Amino acid sequence: MLPPTAPHPDDAPSRGLFLALEGGDGAGKSTQGRLLRDWFRERGREVVMTHEPGGSALGTQIRQLLLHGDHVAPRAEALLFAADRAHHVETVIRPALHRGDVVITDRYLDSSVAYQGAGRDLDADEVRSLSLWAVQGLVPDLTIVLDISPELGRARRGAVHDRLEAEPDGFHARVRARFLALAAATPERYLVVDATEDPDQIHDQVVARLETLVGVTP
Ligand SMILES: Nc1ncnc2c1ncn2[C@@H]1O[C@H](COP(=O)(O)OP(=O)(O)O)[C@@H](O)[C@H]1O
Ligand SMILES: [Mg+2]
Repeated sequence: MLPPTAPHPDDAPSRGLFLALEGGDGAGKSTQGRLLRDWFRERGREVVMTHEPGGSALGTQIRQLLLHGDHVAPRAEALLFAADRAHHVETVIRPALHRGDVVITDRYLDSSVAYQGAGRDLDADEVRSLSLWAVQGLVPDLTIVLDISPELGRARRGAVHDRLEAEPDGFHARVRARFLALAAATPERYLVVDATEDPDQIHDQVVARLETLVGVTP
């Protein structure tokens, strides 16, 4: 287990707002990300939309290796995701939060815990501490989990599957359970929504929760 690292000096209280969208592919992360981006922009906030893996130039290359290559050894996979995340946080997310922007990331640390920890044979706590080390402890102010069944996720994704999406439904069921367990462990940092509801209804639930967070302009 990696030792905890000292907090990063940029993570003082007076920074921007860091939001993560999590959930299986097809859950509606991109849809909700767009609605959320527009909501903040209408309120005059600068918004940085980003995603993992691949939210930086280096990350785009790592993403290619991860999602479209052949078999990747589980520990190599966990390290590559963590390397992508370390670089993404250092070059994209922390600078934006330092400017006071809203950062909306499509997937973050919990995806590693859920996919590498629950879906494969690595210990979830080890995967989590690896990623926390990589990002010097930066966790979102709010993580929105779009909860969807493996069957519906598969139906919404259509015929296009990358290496992880192509895993059987049992894998996706373990991933789903892990997202829910992470949310239950620190509920003050999470909003779990039923991804089968109408996109506008989901957005309303997200906004209602955001309005209770410090740093959000109503
Ligand atoms: N709440 C919803 N109800 C029904 N369909 C949805 C909902 N949210 C998204 N979709 C549709 O499901 C598909 C996947 O949505 P998307 O936002 O791309 O998911 P993700 O980014 O999580 O993979 C798209 O065709 C989208 O229009
Ligand atoms: Mg998407």
